Amino acid sequence: MENEHTQITSLPRIGEKAPEFKAVTTQGDINFPADYIGQWVILFSHPADFTPVCTSEFITFASQEDKFAKANCKLVGLSVDGLYSHIAWLRTIKEKIEYKGMKDVEVKFPLIEDITMEVAKKYGMIQPGESNTKAVRAVFFIDPKGIIRAMIYYPLSLGRNFDEIYRVIIALQTADAFSVATPADWQPGDEVIVPTAGSCGVAKERMESKADMHCYDWFFCTKKIDKEKVLGTILKK
Ligand code: BEZ
Repeated sequence: MENEHTQITSLPRIGEKAPEFKAVTTQGDINFPADYIGQWVILFSHPADFTPVCTSEFITFASQEDKFAKANCKLVGLSVDGLYSHIAWLRTIKEKIEYKGMKDVEVKFPLIEDITMEVAKKYGMIQPGESNTKAVRAVFFIDPKGIIRAMIYYPLSLGRNFDEIYRVIIALQTADAFSVATPADWQPGDEVIVPTAGSCGVAKERMESKADMHCYDWFFCTKKIDKEKVLGTILKK
């Protein structure tokens, strides 16, 4: 049903190409997602520079940038602030803020200026029920082909859990590399879910087989993949 917010609340969808844009960032101009083809990328938004939740998030995320890079994953931030605000805020973070033992933190990944909200609107980051003038905390997981594979939206008041964001990147790559799915609360080394058998015959065979598999029922079978194998496949040496 259409309402006055329909245009700006249109959301990208999982499995579709990431909307394209060109933008100015703290690390120069970018052409998205073209510049990131061949790598995973997390595009995320925050409501405003010089605000406390966002500052805690930037310090936390920037401190983990190398960990994400080892998983072939780049980070790209966005808010509807201008470039000079971004530069001043990131300088303040580096020079003045110590948070939970993290200090002297340099944000090396690009932070997009989006004063026109053009990019934020393309990605459903402006959600008027929450704010007409600030982006919500969106996280898009985009694969090396430029396809949106997962997305999470949080309200303004809720700082994100970056362990979960890392878990999602590793789980998506594990699903691709081993043709499996990952169950609730999965972590590398936990059992993964093997695809549901396509026919009764295969399901029965599977239930009775002594293969390296555990079937809870015909539709729910898991197998072990060692943590070393998962991380050895995904992470750069
Ligand atoms: C914050 O990051 O602290 C924040 C930003 C916008 C609205 C509310 C909180």
